[in-house]
Amino acid sequence: MTYARITGTGSYLPEKVLTNHDLEKMMDTSDAWIRERTGICRRHIAADGETCSDMSMAAASAAIEMAGIEPTDIDLIIVATVTPDQVFPSTACIIQRRLGIHGCPAFDIQAACSGFVYALDLANRLIATGGAKTALVIGSEILSRITDWQDRATAVLFGDGAGAAILQPGDKPGILATHMHSDGQYADLLQVPQGIGSGYDALRAGEAFIQMNGNAVFRRAVATLDSIARETLADNGIGKHEIDWLVPHQANLRIIAAAAKKLDLPMERVVVTVDEQANTSSASIPLALDTAVRDGRIQRGQLLLFEAFGAGFTWGSALVRF
Ligand code: ACO
Repeated sequence: MTYARITGTGSYLPEKVLTNHDLEKMMDTSDAWIRERTGICRRHIAADGETCSDMSMAAASAAIEMAGIEPTDIDLIIVATVTPDQVFPSTACIIQRRLGIHGCPAFDIQAACSGFVYALDLANRLIATGGAKTALVIGSEILSRITDWQDRATAVLFGDGAGAAILQPGDKPGILATHMHSDGQYADLLQVPQGIGSGYDALRAGEAFIQMNGNAVFRRAVATLDSIARETLADNGIGKHEIDWLVPHQANLRIIAAAAKKLDLPMERVVVTVDEQANTSSASIPLALDTAVRDGRIQRGQLLLFEAFGAGFTWGSALVRF
């Protein structure tokens, strides 16, 4: 049996930081409200002209270096993003060109905030069945470009960044299990109704931004993250006390705390970056993973649970022996 192992991680955050106090000058909000309702203190914002592929390259380079491989070893590239450089080619193909590699499959996937977990699932299955040997999996987002900076209900929540992982085969797990779900009946609750999608009149102004029913998303996120955690542990015969680290999608500290409580995990065993980075959608799990790997909290051999929830709704998990 072949298993996929994460052999390298990397991440990138743009230099520019926007604090809650900066937002106070831009809209009718307060540092106290944002901290209390979301746990967010600041977020990073991409520079003018900086692209999803620029950020992806920085994260990928760090992951490649940690894995000790050459770019030419990579034979699969998957980028999870809702903010690609262009409609096409995919950001993955742009990364492939920038890495100077040729011929291997490279494609983007879009599962909103669950994108990285979806991409990990696909790469894991391809490695396990011999379809790939060295996968580069990236989550990268410039959400600031699809944020309505007049809308305090959403503008305070999001940030930009990228995270990456290298997956390679091994005879011991590795990625123990992945789960992916979605339910399109909730599509209207969290959406960007305009933009690169082909289903709407592109000339209708003011809709190319994130729109969200925050309360409904919140309730559904808490319930769904509980069920995906239960499903993942039950399917794999793992008790919740065996988890060393919860690495959740970073949307809101209250959602993360609720998920940790259901798992009986103290917050000391939950990787939290939402305070410093806000919600970076598909980038948030690989950013959190890389942060905790590089600061020494996550150690080889530990059991990690990734869980994500996002627009669609989509949700998913990965149980990883690091
Ligand atoms: N600053 C100050 N006041 C605000 C702000 C703001 N930025 N935004 C809303 N308010 C006001 C509202 O107008 C409302 O005022 P009112 O009581 O006078 O009507 C009050 O604060 C409460 O608003 P609620 O929306 O009820 O606040 P809530 O406690 O639900 O928090 C929040 C809002 C933070 C958006 C919460 O619902 C949430 O986190 N939802 C989930 C969001 C999320 O996680 N989205 C992404 C998940 S999926 C993905 O990652 C793509």
